[in-house]
Amino acid sequence: MGEEQKIQITSLGLFPYKGINLVRGVHQVQHLDSLEKFEIRGDDIVAVTYPRSGTTWTQYILSLLYHGDQMTEGSNKHPIQELVPLLEDNIRRIDYNNKPSTRTFASHLHLSSIPQGLREKGKLIYIARNPKDVAVSLFHLHNFTNVLESEPDFNIFLIKFLKGEVLWGSWFDHVADWYAHKDEFDILSLTYEDMIKDTRGAVVRISNFLGKKLDDQTIDTIVDKSTFKNMKEDPQARRDKQHPAFFEQSGSFIRKGMASMLSTFNKDCVSHEVNFNCWLQNSTRKRSLKIVP
Ligand code: A3P
Repeated sequence: MGEEQKIQITSLGLFPYKGINLVRGVHQVQHLDSLEKFEIRGDDIVAVTYPRSGTTWTQYILSLLYHGDQMTEGSNKHPIQELVPLLEDNIRRIDYNNKPSTRTFASHLHLSSIPQGLREKGKLIYIARNPKDVAVSLFHLHNFTNVLESEPDFNIFLIKFLKGEVLWGSWFDHVADWYAHKDEFDILSLTYEDMIKDTRGAVVRISNFLGKKLDDQTIDTIVDKSTFKNMKEDPQARRDKQHPAFFEQSGSFIRKGMASMLSTFNKDCVSHEVNFNCWLQNSTRKRSLKIVP
């Protein structure tokens, strides 16, 4: 039986959880509640992002770094959602406690819900992406997945995004809280824009941070394999191919892969006040000051 047949979509839409919005049928309150006390190991790695900020890309790079043997052709080939699972989804009901080391996870958790053990052990990679591109990408995701209500009007969606009334709550709270507390963790902060501008540099930074000494050829291979084009063609990288029941037929979870702003992380723009203009000043395309999805 295919994985998608085992997964029941119970009802559509978002439900509130600790001040943010999560997805019915995907997120289970009992599992979410257990995460704060989830036992962290010293060699655990967690890539944290607000959705649509480069999670899948980072999951793919981590898969290549740690589970390359499980990504090759043949019966042993595993999707990256299994190799680097989202801590909070656990759609596949994997027993994370019995997963062999090195455990690699991704997560969209806000700072307040992260396993407390990560303050003492394990390594975190935090990836941020500018909110304009996140808003556009999230808008398309709302319309591409059938576990959420469609959003016919981008301008209305943008107002919801700015108020934090979308999937996973406020981008501003997520980034600002993680930024304010980053020194409490063993953390590497990167931006999606850094990864676009210099993918090789980002792979080197990630592997150095994780204590992996890679030769040039291995780095080149990881960079080649994790290009937008290759990932889009690889069903193991695509959540829509792994869980077709959750998505419309048309579209792709790996969609356009562009950065409309090439500024790196701009701490002056991260604020609890919704200051979108601050980001827009950094736009590489002046005409995109008018937001077009
Ligand atoms: P777009 O919708 O702007 O294309 P996440 O995995 O956090 O949900 O982020 C998804 C976004 O990352 C999508 O952005 C997707 O296309 C982009 N993405 C995924 N893999 C990528 C890659 N290898 N290179 C560039 N962008 C990538």
